[in-house]
Amino acid sequence: MIIGIPREGRVGERRVAATPESAKALIEMGFTVCVAENAGLLASFPDSSFEQVGASIVSQEAAWASVVVLQVNPPSVEEIGGMRQGGTLISLLRPAQNQALLDTLMGKKATALALDQIPRITRAQKMDVLSSMGNIAGYRAVVEASQHYGGFFGGQMTAAGKSAPAKVLVIGAGVAGLSALGAARGLGATVYAFDVRVSAKEQVESLGGRFLTVEIEESGETAGGYAKTMSKEFIDAEMALFREHAPTTDVVITTALIPGRAAPKLWLADMVAAMKPGSVVVDLAAEQGGNCEGTVAGEVVQVDGVNIIGYTDLVSRLPTVASRFFAKNVQNLIVELGGAEGWHIDHEDEAVRGALAVEAGELRFPPPKIERPPPPVVAPPTQVTAPEPKAESGVGRLLASAAFVGVFGAIGLFAPIEFVQHFSVFVLSCFVGWQLIWNVNHALHTPLMSVTNAISGIILVGGLLQTGRGESFTALPVILAAVALLLASINVVGGFLVTHRMLAMFRRGN
Ligand code: NAI
Repeated sequence: MIIGIPREGRVGERRVAATPESAKALIEMGFTVCVAENAGLLASFPDSSFEQVGASIVSQEAAWASVVVLQVNPPSVEEIGGMRQGGTLISLLRPAQNQALLDTLMGKKATALALDQIPRITRAQKMDVLSSMGNIAGYRAVVEASQHYGGFFGGQMTAAGKSAPAKVLVIGAGVAGLSALGAARGLGATVYAFDVRVSAKEQVESLGGRFLTVEIEESGETAGGYAKTMSKEFIDAEMALFREHAPTTDVVITTALIPGRAAPKLWLADMVAAMKPGSVVVDLAAEQGGNCEGTVAGEVVQVDGVNIIGYTDLVSRLPTVASRFFAKNVQNLIVELGGAEGWHIDHEDEAVRGALAVEAGELRFPPPKIERPPPPVVAPPTQVTAPEPKAESGVGRLLASAAFVGVFGAIGLFAPIEFVQHFSVFVLSCFVGWQLIWNVNHALHTPLMSVTNAISGIILVGGLLQTGRGESFTALPVILAAVALLLASINVVGGFLVTHRMLAMFRRGN
């Protein structure tokens, strides 16, 4: 079975749908891999690198005539004309917007799998090109912004003056937005983010961003995890929030998207005008009409002194890594399709069925809606509490209290005074220790353990004094002191090891 990788037809595209690494994997799966001349050149994969792994270099026409064709972008109608009858195409397709393409594919009795239609479910993550490309786009958006912004992203204090960290606002904290947030934080900027999905808050905060909220309580999340169109009241509140932040924001990165719709306009002309001259807006949704008023798809324009970047090829600007990720996603889909030996279209496979746009000339788009159970009702965070005491009879409680008072009373009356003193300290320590540990968040127990080294130090001193009083080795106090010394030493050594491991985890580059 021959897999062909033609050169990309889209102007300016530098990515390629297979790399030497993925070509090698496909060959090991039993395919013959034919790469068009210079197909990977712009992504730094010369023909020789494909030949080294056993792929053949062929003409563009021969690559298109293969049994299975891999592409990044939706091909043109002319390119599909070069496909063999009954061939298979795997690429981005955007079938909802490309009826002419679907018609041509059907005319060819072809089978087409649209990579952009793979559902965003956990199992299909390894094939999800939109996520892997979104991640790259978010990173590159920050790189582009830094190129057009006339200041540092991180704050600086020098003999020649100081510079505050840049304030970055990310609108839409999906895959691309979170990646932009991480990259901007990495450069030292202060990053704010907004999303209609409340679940994004935790992700934003875990990356060091500050999540902005509006007063209106409305969740923008659908059952599939994507955003829905929000009410007018919500959008008005969102606009008011952005207006408040516009004069102090240096870089805005917009990624807001509602699947199947034109991008909502969220950064309006008056917000652009309110920004300081030299500020930057990077509009990732430029191809879908843009989130910012004034965006021109594919270009950088200056409006009121603000640079608005509308590049639609951000991913292609990192062609090597983008090709590697894309090719790996495609390779994983081919494994799902059974490889060369077991090649088949499994309608029961949710990922494959989701991507299937045309099958042997028959239209299969849109896929049937999968009935999912309603999302589980999110329970409020559970608090760990002590188990409810079982309802005891009044007599039982009275007896227990009487026994308690009796035991402690007997100790107070008859035990030697030295024992009573030690016993009081012991009971109080148990109480303080219980309160301390129980009221500290579980996540902080490890650092707490390091702090208990100090307490262990006191125990060690006490133990040493006790064993040094000249009593026999078999005397009870000496035995207890020896046990205390052993346990405290374990705690000290363990505490240092754990602290060391934690520090290593936080140290960059480790
Ligand atoms: P995604 O679906 O994971 O994220 C979009 C986010 O926008 C979601 O979290 C959604 O809740 C949020 N959103 C929707 N309406 C909103 C509103 N009114 N206010 C605030 N947030 C809102 O999508 P992903 O993968 O992060 O991609 C983001 C955008 O980047 C898409 O438009 C995609 O086409 C584009 N993109 C652009 C590239 C380029 O070269 N310019 C390359 C790759 C992706």
